[in-house]
Amino acid sequence: MDARAYRLKCLKESDVFEVDFAEVLQMKTTIIQAATESTNYRQHAMTTAKSLHRVAADITDHDWLQKLEKSGFIPEKNTVWVLEGVLYYLSHSNAMEVLKIIADNCTIAHTVLLADFMNKSSTTLSSSLFHFYSDWPDHLLPSLGFSDVKLSQIGDPDAHFGLLHDPLNLFNKLRSLPRSLQTHPDDGTPCCRLYLVKASGSPN
Ligand SMILES: C[S@@+](CC[C@H](N)C(=O)[O-])C[C@H]1O[C@@H](n2cnc3c(N)ncnc32)[C@H](O)[C@@H]1O
Repeated sequence: MDARAYRLKCLKESDVFEVDFAEVLQMKTTIIQAATESTNYRQHAMTTAKSLHRVAADITDHDWLQKLEKSGFIPEKNTVWVLEGVLYYLSHSNAMEVLKIIADNCTIAHTVLLADFMNKSSTTLSSSLFHFYSDWPDHLLPSLGFSDVKLSQIGDPDAHFGLLHDPLNLFNKLRSLPRSLQTHPDDGTPCCRLYLVKASGSPN
């Protein structure tokens, strides 16, 4: 349900590809269509991106990249991959496979990955929903072929958005604890972290 292609002016030179399940994309198309027919919302239903392609695919299937390419995605073009709110729903092997496929793209074109990673403790919030985790995405991603990994936690200066002023805020408290800790030293509750990660890679 991401709306970047409709709200980010910086995408005016970019081709945007949205990959999701067919039924999710269908629902989105219906909502956007309703907005274009409404005088109140019409201007918000105009894309700001150069082009927008909706690609119905399950990223746990082996052919999602081919589907993307059939929709016009060109692996040789510089690409920013946004995996936001996705990886932790996948099994470990599926998530690793997706990351490897994207890492392989680094050998073809300048590639940037933006992704959020749950740490192990976060997956205990729902063992039926959350599967994949990494406590050290800043170590994992270079092992797959990415470089320049930058990791932020909610509340860091670049992930603050002027909203987290209270030093006792849950996220600010977490940031002051070593990342290796799985439980709070005070009360033994899990240290649930969400890492916001940027990584990149380029052909040599
Ligand atoms: C929490 S949402 C976040 C989406 C997006 N970042 C946004 O802001 O709207 C997770 C999305 O991932 C999609 N998704 C989950 N598993 C998937 C899979 N195996 N293949 C393709 N899409 C998947 C879901 O349908 C959902 O739209």
